[in-house]
Amino acid sequence: MSDFDLLIKNAKVATASDFYQTDIAVKDGVISQIGIIDCNAKKIIDAEENIVTPGGVDGHCHLDQPTDDNSVFADDFESGSKSAAFGGTTTIIPFALQPKGGSIKVAIDEYHKKAEGKSFVDYAFHMIITDPCEEILKNELPDLIKNGYSHFKIYMTYEALKLNDMEILKVLSFARDNGAMTMVHAENDDCITLLTKLLLESGKIGPKYHAVSRPIIMEDEATYSAISMSELIDVPILIVHVSSERAMTQIQNAQSKGLNIYAETCPQYLFLTANDLDSEDFEGAKYICSPPPRTPKDQEKIWLGIKTGVFQVFSSDHAPFKFQGNQGKQIQGSETKFCNVPNGVPGIETRMPLLMSKGVLEERIDIQKFVSITSTNPAKIYGLYPRKGTIAPGSDADIVIWNTNNKFKLSNSMLHHNVDYTPYEGIELNAWPLTVISRGQLIVENGNLIANKNQGIFLKSDLPEPAKTLDKNNLLNRLEKNTFKK
Ligand code: URP
Ligand code: ZN
Ligand code: ZN
Repeated sequence: MSDFDLLIKNAKVATASDFYQTDIAVKDGVISQIGIIDCNAKKIIDAEENIVTPGGVDGHCHLDQPTDDNSVFADDFESGSKSAAFGGTTTIIPFALQPKGGSIKVAIDEYHKKAEGKSFVDYAFHMIITDPCEEILKNELPDLIKNGYSHFKIYMTYEALKLNDMEILKVLSFARDNGAMTMVHAENDDCITLLTKLLLESGKIGPKYHAVSRPIIMEDEATYSAISMSELIDVPILIVHVSSERAMTQIQNAQSKGLNIYAETCPQYLFLTANDLDSEDFEGAKYICSPPPRTPKDQEKIWLGIKTGVFQVFSSDHAPFKFQGNQGKQIQGSETKFCNVPNGVPGIETRMPLLMSKGVLEERIDIQKFVSITSTNPAKIYGLYPRKGTIAPGSDADIVIWNTNNKFKLSNSMLHHNVDYTPYEGIELNAWPLTVISRGQLIVENGNLIANKNQGIFLKSDLPEPAKTLDKNNLLNRLEKNTFKK
């Protein structure tokens, strides 16, 4: 009889704190022993001293999400999760979207139907709150939070999604009372609307003007505004997809004052710039996302922010729209105005290999940082740790064995998403997941998919934060004391 279901020998295991050679034994989908292990197992894999990391946790990706302009997200749970698996991500957290004026509970039920039996990897849900009315805050969200949906995103921009400051304050107060985590998309919508109007009036309609219409100043301003509201309510927030040095500096200043501000950045802010949007033809639309990619100097600073700990999370913000056809980037043909091009870039499969190659192997960051921002921290911040996000006894056996010895040029034909391009076409990489394991099951072996599409299960999220009821007297006394300082 075998002692274990799976034994991985000769692994160079990286966690958020360590990097060491060991064997890993798995039983019933869970890591049961780590050390030099000489026992039987139903299956033995020799990792041949390759790097072994926890499976990635992609804390920000969009799959099969409803839109309001007839565009269609190119990936559903099947293609999106398959692509994630090939890229070494074993947990995804996409978004259940509350339609304005609608129920979040219904949105979640519908999103479950889209996911069930169709995911190759495990999944939790974020919620997107577009209408934080009494009914939602009092009668829907408290139960949802108790039932495993403990994090949500709010938007300061996009007509169909944005909240005003009063609504943001209500959501932040609710998050504090209930121990939830609020993710904030920080861009000033009125300024974007004004600049868009001015650009269109001047006949500036091409893809590159997307970047002009959403300048760094307005990301900076909105980031500071979000931080200020979080400071007032005294509740942690996470600023998503930070693109610029200026926004990052706001976050760094807040963190150095002791405020609990978390931050996420994404591959597009390390590997693309606004110049990618500036093409003669419509090709630039492939790189339209919000906030837009910035300058080479911003890229450098974002790398530094990862290294120095300003960013806790590195997500894909996979928002897949096809380039060809009329449901994606060319929704109104090849002359689609920049402001009507669906926002987002694909990247669920390339997130981890890009950072392993360009970050770890080119020595911009160490392997522990890689693990912490691609896996451990998102698992912690979204209430999935220690089940997810580490290689330790008792954790789910979500494991990636890497091949870091093979230099190649990335091409979209290698990828498994349902998108007809990758923004990173031609980039030279030397890391790719060889074998990917989810709860002890091999899902990718030597580069081949061997899982069923019902492998993935829904994960209930614990509370990310302790619930702290907003004490109104305390808040008012604190403000009064600060106002009349001697
Ligand atoms: O352009 C982007 N990032 N699209 C996806 C939606 C969002 O705001 O994250
Ligand atoms: Zn966003
Ligand atoms: Zn997003």
